[in-house]
Order: sequence, then C-alpha cells, then structure tokens
Amino acid sequence: MAAETSRRGFLRSVGVAGGAGVLYSTMGAMGLAPVPVAEAVPYRAPSSSDFHLTGRGGKKVLILGAGIAGLTTAYELGKAGYDCRILDAKDRPGGRNWTARGGTVETDLDGATQRARFSSGQYMNCGPGRLPQSHVTLDYCRELGVALEAFVNANADAYIYHGNSAALAGKPMRWRTAKADVYGYISELLAKATDQGALDAALTKDDKDRLIAFLQSFGAIKGKAEGFAYTGSSRRGYSVEPGAAHEKGTVLGPVPSMSDVLASGVGQRFAFEFGYDQAMMMFQPVGGMDAIPKALERAVGRDRITYNAWATGVSNVPGGVEVSWKDNRGRERFERADFCVVATPPQIAARLRHNLGDNVTTALKTPVPVSAGKIGLEYKRRWWELDDHMYGGVVPTDTDLANMWFPSAGYQSARGMVIGYYNTGSNSEAYAKLAPDARAARAVDRGVKIFGDRYRSELAASFSVAWTRTAGFEGAWVGWPNQDGPEYALLNQPQGAVYFAGDWLSHTIAWQHGAFTSARKVVTEIHQRVMAA
Ligand code: ALA
Repeated sequence: MAAETSRRGFLRSVGVAGGAGVLYSTMGAMGLAPVPVAEAVPYRAPSSSDFHLTGRGGKKVLILGAGIAGLTTAYELGKAGYDCRILDAKDRPGGRNWTARGGTVETDLDGATQRARFSSGQYMNCGPGRLPQSHVTLDYCRELGVALEAFVNANADAYIYHGNSAALAGKPMRWRTAKADVYGYISELLAKATDQGALDAALTKDDKDRLIAFLQSFGAIKGKAEGFAYTGSSRRGYSVEPGAAHEKGTVLGPVPSMSDVLASGVGQRFAFEFGYDQAMMMFQPVGGMDAIPKALERAVGRDRITYNAWATGVSNVPGGVEVSWKDNRGRERFERADFCVVATPPQIAARLRHNLGDNVTTALKTPVPVSAGKIGLEYKRRWWELDDHMYGGVVPTDTDLANMWFPSAGYQSARGMVIGYYNTGSNSEAYAKLAPDARAARAVDRGVKIFGDRYRSELAASFSVAWTRTAGFEGAWVGWPNQDGPEYALLNQPQGAVYFAGDWLSHTIAWQHGAFTSARKVVTEIHQRVMAA
C-alpha cells in the first residue's frame, strides 16, 4: 500500500515536470506501460532560466560544420542564450544531408562539375533518405515543424533482381513472389520433418501440432494427406488480375522447384527489413531531406552561419580557443571563443592545424571512411507505376547498382525520380572513378537489363554523388575498427576547450540520429561545465 502510494506520487511528479511523454516512458521503464518504449539517452535542453541568479551567462562557441551535429549544437545551446557561430565549407546547411534539385551545381575532387537539370519539384536526397520511427530525428522534425510522409522501404510489389541466378533466368521477381516460394518450401520441409519425427527430441506432441499449424498458415502449404506440399498460392501474385463476373484471375506460375528457389538466393534479401532501423514504418520529410537542415538554419539564425569558410586550424589558448579558416577569397581569418565544437567528418578534422596533441590526430585518422554513391534518374513517365503497378520501394540487385529506390511521393503524377543506384564499397568506387556522364551511361545500361528499353527512352535527367570524391566529406560515413578502443574514447572527451561531435561518435553511424544525439551529449557537457565553473 505504502509502495503503491509513493509510486503514484513519483509518477505524478514525473508527469508534472516532464509532461505526458516522459510520464509514459517512465511508466514503460517501470514496467507499467503495456510495452516498454526504448528511450534515447534522456536529454534536457539547456535553458536561459538555468542561469538565473547564478551570475553566469551563455558563452561564445565556435562550431566547425553546419551538418546535423553542428546545427543541433548551435540550436540547443542557443536555447540557453549561448553565442554560437558556425563555419561551413559549403554554401548551404546540412552537410551530408543534401538534396539535389534542378540548378544544383557541384564540382567534385576530380574537377568534374555537374549541374542537375531536374525539372521543378523533382529532387534527389544525395545523403540520408529514410528515417526510422525510433530515431530522435522524428522528434526534431516535430519540434521544427518539418512535415513527414511515409518512406516505402519495403513493398511486396517491388522487385528483387538476381541477374546471375540461372534459376531466375535473369528476370526480376517480386518480393511477394519470392516470399511466397521461400516461406512455402521452408514450411513444407519443416512440416514434413516434424511429421516424420525428425524433431521428436526437441518437441512434444502438442508442440508439433502447433508448429505444423503455424507452418500451414505461414507457408500456405497443403495438409498432411497431400504431404504438406507447397504448390503456390495467390500470395505469389497474378498473371491475370481477378475481376468481375467469371474472371477468377490466374495465379502467377509456374511455381519454380524448391531447388531453383534455393539457388536463386532471393531468401537472403528478407533479413534487410528485419533490421532494427530498416523496418517499416519509415519516413522522409515532404519535399526533400534538406527540410531538416533548412529548419535548423532558420531556428539558429542565418546570420550565425558563415558559408564558404574552410576551417584550417583550432587551438586551445589561455581562456578558450582560437579557430582559423579561409574565407571565400582565400584569406585566412582568426577568431577566439570560449569553446569550439568540431562537427566535421573525422577525416576532414584530421587535417586541421591544432595543438591538441598527436594522439588526437592519430585518433581522427582511425575510423575508416566508407564509400557510398547514388544516382538520381528523373523519368518523364512513371513507368514503374503505370506498367508495373509498383508504388515506391527498394529493389535490391546482384549487380553493381546494388539497390534501386522508387519514389515514395508524387504518386500518379507525371514525372518521378528513381535512385538508379545506392551502392557502397567497391560497387560505389566503380562508379565514383567514372566521370558523371559515364556513371549515368553505366547505370542505365544495367537498368535496361532489368526493366527494358523504357529505362533509357523515358529518362529526362541525371545527377550523381560519389561521397569519397565530394569536397568537405571524402566519405559517406566511417567505420571504426573498434568503438571500445582508446581513440573513440579520446574523441568523446573534450580536449581542453575543444569538443568533437558527429554521427561518427555514436553507435548509430550513418544516421542523423547519431549526429543529433552526439550533439546533445556535447551540449550537455558544455552547459554542465559552464554551470559548474
Ligand atoms: N542509414 C543509411 C541507410 O539507411 C546507411 O542506408
């Protein structure tokens, strides 16, 4: 009784202080909500009221990089009145959160200049493109008024293309067909083995009955009298759609043999959508991923950001830091502040002149930049919807295109943007080393093999990004040999008055969530330091 009363009292005070969302998640953590919610590390934004009656005030902070980590650092510290200023090498906010539209111009490190000739309203997210439900990115979208729409990361009517599989004769297969056949045959095998006693050591009679009942539902297999055979079902799809009167429809056939289904390898694609951060529902901002940095830029204040400013150095000096950068005329400039937050990729930060010690340079060079690339292909006709009845989705391939993305917005409109490849590693480098026109030619050649001539004849414009060749980044994201090692630990600590932030200092590398949470951590540390001084 006493415990119950104090628990209620505690929850009431949590509700009063934190609001319903915090109350609910606290209940979840206490086992009182129906399903616990996986909470991000608790975060409380600094507030100017924290300074009341303390005689303290917001300090001056210089931030290198107007990507998500840098913008978030300025945004959050700005809530408490810190005087933040961001320097960025590009002429736009967002860093790798970059959306290319008609008129976007970029010159890569090889000197090739591309100008996107996309039509009005068409865009391509060159960097991040999808947001899981669990990420704080969604909380920032809510707070900043960034409208979201569904991102189709899984679609039963999208294709899988295994061109090297003799079993598929080089033809694409729909996810639904692949699943029907793989689940069907696996269910047939397991039901037979169970029925024949092969699992008697592990299963009771009741277990076996329940397992077989599950397999009949999961695999749409026949009953015991017919040997639990998988012979196909409407889950595969139809070659003639069911319709009015006597049109029963024709189920897609013939069903390939079990051996051919296994040989096709399509089942190896299924685990993708089981991933914690790749499962539907997923989201994208309406109109382009850069709606997030644009909203952050507005919230921070455009006047606090200097673009076309290449940072050249950062040093601890008595009482704070000194930062140097080259302005758009190539003049080196210097500025002092109380703190600096380096929010560039580590491979870029490693080139800064600094006095933080050689071990910092060594640590910054430890994570290995990963190659990734995308090509946006604008089509004059949405043939994937009109001809294939495929409304969005990811098409994995066994070609060097790796994954193709079909658009999650603008359904039934005239034009649309296909991501013709989203690839990594050696596949990405195979395209990165080509000139932009040659990348498009190669991507379209590959695509014609999958989708036929319309893949070339309906094409209107293209634009590609190769992150290893993109100035200011030189990598799509990084991989640490070891995130328990001393280098990762070192960069997660302040070096004097210099802090580091970015997705690369998180356990959600290659997601904006990593950048947001890393920035929050640094913001909390700076604010606690200022409050304690
Ligand atoms: N977060 C990146 C993706 O979804 C790696 O592809």
